[in-house]
Amino acid sequence: MEMESCNYMLPLVASCFFFLCTFCHALLATRRTSNVCSGHRHAPRSHPVLGCLVEFYRNRRRLLDWYTGLLAASPSQTFVVERLGARRTVVTANPANVEHILKGNFGNYPKGKPFTETLGDLLGGGIFNVDGEPWRAQRKLVSHEFTARALRERVGPALDAEARARLLPALDAAADAGGEVAMAFVDVQELLRQFAFNVICRVSLGSAGDDEETPLLPVMSRLASAFDAAAAIVARRGAAPVAAVWKAKRALGVGSERRLREEMAVIHGAITELILRRRRCRARRGGGEDDLVSRMAAAGYGDEVIRDMVISFIMAGRDTTSSALTWFFWLMTRHRDVEAEVLREITDEHHDLAGDGEVAGVGLDALRRMRVLHAALCETMRLYPPVAWDSKHAAEGDVLPDGTVVGPGDRVTYFPYGMGRMEAIWGADASEFRPWRWLTSPAAAHGGEAGDGVSAFEFPVFQGGPRTCLGKEMAFLQMKFVASAVLRRFELRAVEESREPVFVPLLTAHMAGGLNVTVRRRTKGGTC
Ligand code: HEM
Ligand SMILES: *[C@@H]1O[C@H](CO)[C@@H](O)[C@H](O)[C@H]1NC(C)=O
Repeated sequence: MEMESCNYMLPLVASCFFFLCTFCHALLATRRTSNVCSGHRHAPRSHPVLGCLVEFYRNRRRLLDWYTGLLAASPSQTFVVERLGARRTVVTANPANVEHILKGNFGNYPKGKPFTETLGDLLGGGIFNVDGEPWRAQRKLVSHEFTARALRERVGPALDAEARARLLPALDAAADAGGEVAMAFVDVQELLRQFAFNVICRVSLGSAGDDEETPLLPVMSRLASAFDAAAAIVARRGAAPVAAVWKAKRALGVGSERRLREEMAVIHGAITELILRRRRCRARRGGGEDDLVSRMAAAGYGDEVIRDMVISFIMAGRDTTSSALTWFFWLMTRHRDVEAEVLREITDEHHDLAGDGEVAGVGLDALRRMRVLHAALCETMRLYPPVAWDSKHAAEGDVLPDGTVVGPGDRVTYFPYGMGRMEAIWGADASEFRPWRWLTSPAAAHGGEAGDGVSAFEFPVFQGGPRTCLGKEMAFLQMKFVASAVLRRFELRAVEESREPVFVPLLTAHMAGGLNVTVRRRTKGGTC
């Protein structure tokens, strides 16, 4: 999960690049370093210093596309940014470089202190924020959360419960309202975020203690809004021209940093309460449960690390799937032909659902069989990756496969957003939404899954190598579950069909302003 995108990249460029940018280099081809400020069509224009200032300023609102252009124009899809008073940053969309950073020389590219420091107050010692041995140990424990059995026994029921309790009723209500008021609509992005948040809470903490006397929902909604506030503050830390500003505010306990401290107290309080409920519930049942919290306790972790792990978990599972699904639903309203194909597959699978662990009318095995839907989701994330960029910090000096020199402490950023749009990787139609490309590779065409044969280092949407996203399978299951449960019952149409939504790569990416859709019940098979 890139907690960093906003942190360092966007606000930095918006504000500090303007003031601090002194010179930039593109590393073209091998070691031949040349100035980004001169050279090709897409690069900032000629004047080395002023040119850069002006270009960065001019491009501050379209940074993603500007970077993508720079990468596409670089012969090895890599450039280097150097700014006075800031860390040297290598930005790459080159699959060989990405494989080297994430796998080949993994040990030299930890997240690093600049990352863990900025996010430390939010993430503490959870898996997202640790390197080395502590990371390895937590990863081993957490991986048990994602076994096939855990997906079947915990994730399936959580999806089912949440869909029945809130997601489908909310869409039903919107469909009813749509009949009466011509322009009734819902923000489907917000609905999906709530859904994902509640699901991940249920999965990591169980629905334990969700009874009439002490219902879970109020705790979860308190937690959700504190999370939003805390994440936004931590993200804005990167926008301060120098880190000293937020550090001073934190030391003094003023302004946003004071607010952060208050929100963190709410988060810590709520999660601790949920953990305690879970313990009580386990004690009542006589123990024997095999969940994350008890496994960590058995391994000797203290309450704080367990709490931080739950925080990392929630961060990981919340905005990623909802972001991907929001773009998916928007793309479906844009590409009716694809929507029709996806819908046909969903409807076909519903004819033979007999009892394979049916979830809100959708069986988990049926979901696994949905190849067109899988392809459409991959294609969505190729163009709109939930984690748009992700950075590591070099422990020691190194040379990347394309010859780019990395100094000790340099930030090295791989860029899934740009990579999804590289013609060098995807061909001339890279910018088009064409799910079929995922089904035509030799591996996929012979009965494999959509995307088989595509390298994780060409499509690092879930990262790759030893630190690959642990929740990938759960994410696909969840996205397919929501897509089929919703599309089967409802037709969603963007309120402003012609408007191009804005992709905002904050902690995780989202759609600016949400996605307002009108909801209509599908005439056939549309019973809830
Ligand atoms: C479409 C949805 C998702 C995407 C695109 C995604 C992407 C990523 C990425 C890029 C990373 C690497 C972050 C980094 O190390 O800097 C990551 C890590 C991780 N993800 Fe996901 N993720 C998704 C869904 C989920 C879900 C639903 C979970 C479930 C809780 C999850 C759990 C994790 C965990 C635990 C890690 C940390 C792995 C480690 O550090 O060893 N992810 N994910
Ligand atoms: C969606 O609707 C809400 C409420 O009317 C509005 O505030 C918001 O700006 C809309 N979003 C977009 C992207 O138009």
